Amino acid sequence: MKQFTPKTFNLPVLKGISAKNIEEHLKLYAGYVKNTNLVLEKVAELKKDVEKNAYLLGEVNRRFGFEYNGMRNHEIYFSSLEGSSTSLTAGGLLEKNIIENWGSFEAWLGEFKVIALTRGIGWAMLYYDRRENRLLNTWVDEQHLGQLQNCTLVLALDMWEHSYVADYQPSGKKAYVEDFFVNLNWAKVEENLEG
Ligand SMILES: [Fe+2]
Repeated sequence: MKQFTPKTFNLPVLKGISAKNIEEHLKLYAGYVKNTNLVLEKVAELKKDVEKNAYLLGEVNRRFGFEYNGMRNHEIYFSSLEGSSTSLTAGGLLEKNIIENWGSFEAWLGEFKVIALTRGIGWAMLYYDRRENRLLNTWVDEQHLGQLQNCTLVLALDMWEHSYVADYQPSGKKAYVEDFFVNLNWAKVEENLEG
């Protein structure tokens, strides 16, 4: 069976987020890739006897979105921190879209940061809805609940506690969000919209 393979990321020294935390976080990412493959293998195995394995098949199928989205979301998250921090390109496609949708970059950023501080674990996301030609900010619970169908994921901020608690403590959630934007390579984010 065709396998998903973990991607590697060229991550610099980051402000606030330690190399140790990144190392541990990458292990979790590798786990999502492994389990995405595992779900597909298990389904192939269990469907050999659908009647006997109906219940198990249902449970394994239910896990696929959790594992697959966990894999893809982390790829967007880590790749946006690759290389070095850059600013959003003035006059670029993403900036134009942000201004069109929110009036200003600051207005978008303010809304996104509020979403990032949503209680619970999950993801603060910026999506692009091609059909409507508009950007959408949203919160995604864990990763299998709330992803926007048929939209392109442009920016993903991991707000699971494993992404920041070792460096910031639970009370440092806000500082982690601030540092994420200091570390962000906007050129990578722009690629997600333009690619
Ligand atoms: Fe994560």
